[in-house]
Amino acid sequence: MDSTPANRRLWNRISSAYQREHDPQIGAAPRLWGMYSTPDAHLHAVGDVTGRRVLELGCGAGQWSRALAAEGATVVGLDLSEAQLAAAGRAMGAARYPLVQGAAEQLPFAADSFDLVFCDFGGLSWAPPRLAVPQAARVLRRGGRLVFNVASPWFEACYDEPADRVTTTLQQDYFGLNTIAEGDGATSFQLTYGDWVRVLRGAGLIIDDLIEPRPDPTTPNGYNRTDPPDWAHHWPAELLWTTHKP
Ligand SMILES: C[S@@+](CC[C@H](N)C(=O)[O-])C[C@H]1O[C@@H](n2cnc3c(N)ncnc32)[C@H](O)[C@@H]1O
Repeated sequence: MDSTPANRRLWNRISSAYQREHDPQIGAAPRLWGMYSTPDAHLHAVGDVTGRRVLELGCGAGQWSRALAAEGATVVGLDLSEAQLAAAGRAMGAARYPLVQGAAEQLPFAADSFDLVFCDFGGLSWAPPRLAVPQAARVLRRGGRLVFNVASPWFEACYDEPADRVTTTLQQDYFGLNTIAEGDGATSFQLTYGDWVRVLRGAGLIIDDLIEPRPDPTTPNGYNRTDPPDWAHHWPAELLWTTHKP
């Protein structure tokens, strides 16, 4: 089933509230990854982007894209939601970059167009990875990199929906994660570790690393309640994949 209409409606509806709540954290400094705003300077996932052609899949308000544009990359920010793109337009700094409305499932770009395709809880969380990963691989040039951060299966499997928090007890069937209902018909996506490997390799990508960011015990999760509060210091909350197209 095509998840794009419902996901677009969801993000258009929640964009203002989402940016009010999260932009102060995720836009506070350049290159912050994920729910714990882990600096890329600690993880070394993206590297030097000067002069590189970069595509962000699901750029939201462009907290990442505007930082990379300011560093001298030629950035395109793609997102499904016009409300999110409008927020990115308003927040754009001196380094201008194009914003494109589109879906990670069907990228409106020619093959071999980018040196780096990346996202942080963007198009590879909100589009079916079995469709979006081959699209990302298609638009990468040879030697180009796909780098992306998603929730870990641990995090999702330990999520207690009724209590609305992550726990230390397995709550969901690991093999049944696949699609996660986000309300009003919207859907996010999750794969098992094995399926991620198969989807990436199936798209012809080489897996260079799987970084599991480990926040300090005192670093708060900006999005979800966890029990204990330092849950992500003990178990991996996120998967940061780094890959390249040979
Ligand atoms: C959690 S935000 C990620 C953006 C930013 N990194 C952040 O943390 O706010 C998810 C973004 O994915 C976008 N999105 C949802 N479905 C998408 C799709 N199929 N293709 C591209 N972007 C999509 C949403 O509109 C939203 O802006």
